[in-house]
Amino acid sequence: MPGIPMRNGGPKARIAVIPGDGIGAEVTPQAVKVLKAVCAPTQRPLEFVEFDWGADKYLREGVTLPPGAVEMLRDEYDAILFGALGDPRVPSNQHAADILLGLRFKLDLYVNARPVELLHDRLTPLRDRTEKDIRLIVFRENTEGLYVGVGGVFKQDTPDEIAVQEDVNSRKGVERIVRYAFEYARRKGLKRLCMSDKSNAMPFAHGLWQRVFKEVRREYTDIDSRHLFIDTLAMEMVRDPSQFDVVVTCNLFGDILSDLGAQLAGGLGLAPSGNIHPGQTSLFEPVHGSAPHIAGQGIANPLGSVLTSAMMLEFLGWRQEAETLRRAVRAGLRENCVTPDLGGKQSTAAVGDWLAERVGRADLAAQLK
Ligand SMILES: NC(=O)c1ccc[n+]([C@@H]2O[C@H](COP(=O)([O-])OP(=O)(O)OC[C@H]3O[C@@H](n4cnc5c(N)ncnc54)[C@H](O)[C@@H]3O)[C@@H](O)[C@H]2O)c1
Repeated sequence: MPGIPMRNGGPKARIAVIPGDGIGAEVTPQAVKVLKAVCAPTQRPLEFVEFDWGADKYLREGVTLPPGAVEMLRDEYDAILFGALGDPRVPSNQHAADILLGLRFKLDLYVNARPVELLHDRLTPLRDRTEKDIRLIVFRENTEGLYVGVGGVFKQDTPDEIAVQEDVNSRKGVERIVRYAFEYARRKGLKRLCMSDKSNAMPFAHGLWQRVFKEVRREYTDIDSRHLFIDTLAMEMVRDPSQFDVVVTCNLFGDILSDLGAQLAGGLGLAPSGNIHPGQTSLFEPVHGSAPHIAGQGIANPLGSVLTSAMMLEFLGWRQEAETLRRAVRAGLRENCVTPDLGGKQSTAAVGDWLAERVGRADLAAQLK
């Protein structure tokens, strides 16, 4: 999918790789292999440095996000390629909260870009829908909302227990994601933008979204912008996804909506995302989690991670390589070189090998459509 503003556009890039837990540790090496291959014909120097942050390290050493990690990533790396975090041995998910939410918040990665693009007609569960009908992008606010961890529990484990989780929305935070979505639409020549909230039931938090949206949209009269409540939007995305180009919403709704979108386009195994602060070190990860029940079996779909890598290449300003990756994924889907979640018989590594071979040879890469 479509253009993400770049970090540097320079001739070389340094990537921090955090494979994480479960299938994150299985799909990420495949993406790295394919990335190395796609950069070989054009001789782009990509340097990868791997970090073992995740459940094993947490259980072994009690360390989640090491001290100084944020500054190191910010100052020494162009981008972060991330797998997934989540392990049944850590029921609190503390390490995931510290590492993933920590990086999103501390690197101020306020844009969570989640493209929903149907790459082969057979993959959508929607009847009579084709590739041309499902091609949109969800921009999820990524640093505020219900994910900031403000709240508490009172009288825990008693019949009078009370749990409070605050929804934090700042004018600055709302405005920058709404503006980013409009700018993206304009830059990509996309004509339709939809802002979604639940201001009818949450008049304080989402009343702010309403006010900011009304102000910002005045500057973008070239874009056909509208508002839908989140429940209506969820329904409309299933009923007729072709009516959407760009969707912008808050942290929680964007999280849920992008899984819905992922299913419309073939499932979580295929969905990419970028956690972006324009011009600064940004983090790219497949939308899926660590899927512990299929981890270790070699059947996880690596295509979400490979498409995520394409988004990362685009962010680095390497459009040609990004497009080659996407074409290779499309070719794999056409030829059914896919894992069992997409109805294929291939292993995670076999899909990675197949893609690496196609993108790594200039003659084969040139044949990709
Ligand atoms: N960004 C992240 O790191 C992230 C995101 C979501 C969930 N999680 C964590 O992951 C763990 C599992 O969560 P979950 O089960 O709700 O979500 P999940 O995304 O891990 O899995 C949901 C379903 O999709 C399938 N699936 C997901 N990715 C797949 C792939 N690449 N190939 C084939 N099938 C795939 C799984 O098998 C499962 O049936 C939890 O600990 C959760 O907190 C982490």
